[in-house]
Amino acid sequence: MKVNVYPDYETLSQNVADEIIRCVRNKPDAVLCLAAGDTPRLTYETLTARATKEGIDFSHCTFVGLDEWVGVPLDNEGSCSWFLQRHIFTPLSLSRSQIHLFDAMASDLENECNKMNEIISGKGGIDLMLVGIGMNGHIGFNEPGALIDSYAHVIDLDNTTRTVGQKYFRQQMSLTRGITLGLKHLMEARQVILIASGERKAEIIKHTLRGPVTTKVPATVVRNHPNSMIMLDEAAARWVKGLTRG
Ligand code: PGA
Repeated sequence: MKVNVYPDYETLSQNVADEIIRCVRNKPDAVLCLAAGDTPRLTYETLTARATKEGIDFSHCTFVGLDEWVGVPLDNEGSCSWFLQRHIFTPLSLSRSQIHLFDAMASDLENECNKMNEIISGKGGIDLMLVGIGMNGHIGFNEPGALIDSYAHVIDLDNTTRTVGQKYFRQQMSLTRGITLGLKHLMEARQVILIASGERKAEIIKHTLRGPVTTKVPATVVRNHPNSMIMLDEAAARWVKGLTRG
């Protein structure tokens, strides 16, 4: 695991975008799993602007969804799918066949999980997984206590996630369950990048980097991944001493 700290959110985002571009240049048909959320917003803005300017070709890549709120339609502005569509897929003019997302409205969610597992294994696994971190240390919807050997699954959301998740929605929502890739997907991905920005993440980042590796704080398992990077801005790194400044 490598930890890099950047002076601010802008520099962090540029460096994360660089990593994604490097991955796609090395492997034009890369399988990418890019998280939704507030943290990677500027990364995607930078990435898509550079893709246009520098002619970076994403047309052979495959995109798989990380997670989704169960019961929230894909076209709801708070859904992960909508976010990815708006901030990545549309700006990159991807074709429908390149994109594989969970349908969290499906009556058979188990089948959604199986389909996603098959797509990922059929493509030879995930090349780059970019994840944020929840205030409770979750990754995707791998909530505290998640199983280390799990692939895609449906999970009851932690109270913190139910509350914090409201920020993505215009109206109060009932957020009770999530569908998510599992920690086994994370551990099997060829490269993992975890990003965090802002002081509100400083406490959980301290636990993630300095606490014991445990699925009680799912993000800590990133430390056991052979090719992982934790990329932070100064504010998120505030409570951790002795880190490399990028
Ligand atoms: P955020 O979400 O980027 O909106 O803070 C992170 C997460 O919950 O994984």
